[in-house]
Amino acid sequence: MRNLKMYEADDKMISLIRDNYDLLQSLGSFGINLGFGDKTVRETCEDNGVDTYTFLAVVNFTANGYKSFENDEQLSVPTLLHYLEASHAYFLDFQLPYIRRELQESLDEKDSLGMLILRFYDEYAQEIRRHMKYEQKTLFPYVQSLIDKQPINDYNVDTFSKHHGATDKKLRELKLLIIKYLPQDGLHNNQLTATLHDIYENEVWLRQHAMVEDSIFVPAIRRLEKIVKQNDVTRNISDMVTKAGVGESQELLSDREKDVIVALVQGMQNKEIADHLCISVNTVITHRRNIARKLQIHSAAGLTIYAIVNNLIDISNVKL
Ligand SMILES: [Fe+2]
Ligand SMILES: [Fe+2]
Repeated sequence: MRNLKMYEADDKMISLIRDNYDLLQSLGSFGINLGFGDKTVRETCEDNGVDTYTFLAVVNFTANGYKSFENDEQLSVPTLLHYLEASHAYFLDFQLPYIRRELQESLDEKDSLGMLILRFYDEYAQEIRRHMKYEQKTLFPYVQSLIDKQPINDYNVDTFSKHHGATDKKLRELKLLIIKYLPQDGLHNNQLTATLHDIYENEVWLRQHAMVEDSIFVPAIRRLEKIVKQNDVTRNISDMVTKAGVGESQELLSDREKDVIVALVQGMQNKEIADHLCISVNTVITHRRNIARKLQIHSAAGLTIYAIVNNLIDISNVKL
C-alpha cells in the first residue's frame, strides 16, 4: 500500500523504507548501503556522498507520482547519471537473469509451451538489453561530456527523448500468456505464481525507471545543455580574443592595466579613471595604448568581452 507522503531530509531513512519497501532497490542504485540505523535521510545521503535533494526528488517522484522538474535547478545531474547507470546494472546483471532462472524452475522443460514461454522471455530480455545498452552507449557518455564541459558532439537530449519508447509491451504479453494458458494440467504451481509476482514487480520497476528518465533526467540534461552551450559561445569568443592577442605578443597585462580595463568596462572616461586610480590622465592613456597593443583589442565591446571571459569583472557590473 503506497503512502502518499512527501519525504524530507530530516525524516528517518528507515521510515521511508518501512512505507515503501520497493525503494530498497533504489537505495542500492544510489550507492546507499543498508545498516544506516536511525539516521535521517540527509545524514545517510551525506555519509554515502549522495546529493540529498536529488535523492529525495527521485524517491518522492517514485513513491508519489508526477511532479514537474522542468525548472528544477537544484537537481544534480552527476547523481542522476550514477543512479541510472547503477539501475541498469541491477536490472541487466541481476533482475533479468534472476527472473529467467525462476521461470525455468517453474516451467516444465519437456513441455513445448513452457519452452516457448522461455523463448518469449529471452526475446523480451534482449529487447530491454538493447534499450539500455543504447542509453549506455549514447546518452550516458553524452551527459558525462556535458558534465565535463567537453565540446558537444551532434547528439542532443531531444534526439534521445523523441525515440525513448516504452519497453513493457512484451512483458505484459508474457504475463497474460502465462496466466491464461499455463499450466495446462490445471494444477496450482507455487513457483509459477511467485515468478509471476516478480514479473509484475519487474514491470513496475521498469515503468518507474522510464519515468525517472523522462520526467527528471531529460529536463535536467536539457538545462545542463543550455548552460554548457552558453559557456561554449563564451569560450569561443574567449578563444577569438585570446588568439587575436596571442598573434602579436604574449605579454601579460599588469595589475594596473587590468584596473584600467575594469574601469573602462564600467563606462568611465580617462579623467574619471585617473581620479579613481590616483594616476595622471597621461598615465591612463599610456595604459590604454599598452592594453591595446598587448591584447590587440581596440574597441570597448572587445575589452568588455575580454574582461568577462577572463573574470576581471562580473557580467552584472558591466555597463551595457
Ligand atoms: Fe534506462
Ligand atoms: Fe530508458
